[in-house]
Amino acid sequence: MNNFEFRNPVQIVFGKKTEERAGELAAQYGAKKVLLHYGGGSIKKSGLYDRIVKSLESSGIVWAELPGVKPNPRLSLVREGVTLCREENIDLILAVGGGSVIDSAKAIGIGVKYDGDVWDFYTGKAEPQESLPTAVVLTIPAAGSESSQGSVITNEDGGLKRPVNAACMFPAFSICNPELAFTLPVHQIAAGTADIFAHMHERYFTNIKHVDLTDRLIEAGMRNIIHHAPRLLDASEDYDTWAEVMWTGTVAHNNILDTGRLGDWASHDIEHELSGMFDIAHGAGLAIIIPAWMKFVYKHDVERFAQFAERVFFVERDYADPEKTVLEGIYRLEQHFKRMGMAVRLSEVGITADSFEEMADRATSGDTATLGNFVKLDKESIIRILKLAE
Ligand code: NZQ
Ligand code: ZN
Repeated sequence: MNNFEFRNPVQIVFGKKTEERAGELAAQYGAKKVLLHYGGGSIKKSGLYDRIVKSLESSGIVWAELPGVKPNPRLSLVREGVTLCREENIDLILAVGGGSVIDSAKAIGIGVKYDGDVWDFYTGKAEPQESLPTAVVLTIPAAGSESSQGSVITNEDGGLKRPVNAACMFPAFSICNPELAFTLPVHQIAAGTADIFAHMHERYFTNIKHVDLTDRLIEAGMRNIIHHAPRLLDASEDYDTWAEVMWTGTVAHNNILDTGRLGDWASHDIEHELSGMFDIAHGAGLAIIIPAWMKFVYKHDVERFAQFAERVFFVERDYADPEKTVLEGIYRLEQHFKRMGMAVRLSEVGITADSFEEMADRATSGDTATLGNFVKLDKESIIRILKLAE
């Protein structure tokens, strides 16, 4: 096991009707004027917007608004938010939505405290040192941004989607009410739960030995998603099932599952090129890339993949032919994604081989960098993975 430090300062407020405490919690963190940041209107349709506004009012908090965050959140709106926060003297940004709204809020938060262009943080030109406080009312279990220190933003000029991570980017508090997810369309449920699975997958495939506790915690989280996610497709108002999925989504990405190990993250990096160039949902891209990545790398550690197949998908071990066990595990993962109504091949979402070279080139900055820690992938390896996903 590696040495590690673990700290996750986000106050999670979980359960029914917890959004009614948004104003009270914001006041506890010293907020007097809040930026209410949200997406394309789902929170107005569901009535959540009205409840949040009422909660702010009853705690004597005033607010300005910035709606319009798109999935794969855009840099231009972040820049608008930075200007607005400065003009309005905002002291806390309240993100009401999913990963895209939260990531946009985090970007605005670090942008406000920086004299240069906020995109500098996403190109690695600068590192975030401080942020305006952010807080969350979560409406979709998926990205885990409610308890992460990351933000992923798309620069529409060139279609580049890039992440940044910094300790100052943890939200102050995150309100997680599973009831708020009842209105999600089926394809968002599928994409969201694929992303939750992916956050555990990225951490599971590690070269660090003696990480039994986190192996087994991750396996339990993966099992929980595989068991509960399909039930949401026809029981979309089952609170307990949503609660299982929402809490798994937070735990999957709050870094407790990272302790003592080094995750891979190549599948996420490859997926960011899909989202950046083709604007597909992050989870939808992952459901295509992960099985292909597995097929490409499993020979690096057949035992770890056989353990995954056996413990997560209950594949009976073939001791004479462990690769058969591995391939059955990958097959069952693909079947899970298909059962969720997801595409598992690029051709199913209209992405063809003529873009593979460019995606691999962008992902490796012109073949000067590699992706992943479990197996280091160069440009050629990424093209081969994309071909396996074709
Ligand atoms: O915009 P509205 O109208 O609100 O609709 C949204 C959006 O169209 C809709 N939606 C959300 N909650 C709803 C709802 N519709 C009905 N009822 C509700 N309760 O769902 C759509 C997708 O929302 P989005 O926020 O994009 O989804 P998600 O949470 O999956 O976030 C994806 C983004 O997070 C990034 C991804 O790259 C992607 O850009 N990630 C962020 C991470 C982080 N910061 O730690 C880690 C992840 O790996 C991921 O990369
Ligand atoms: Zn993700």
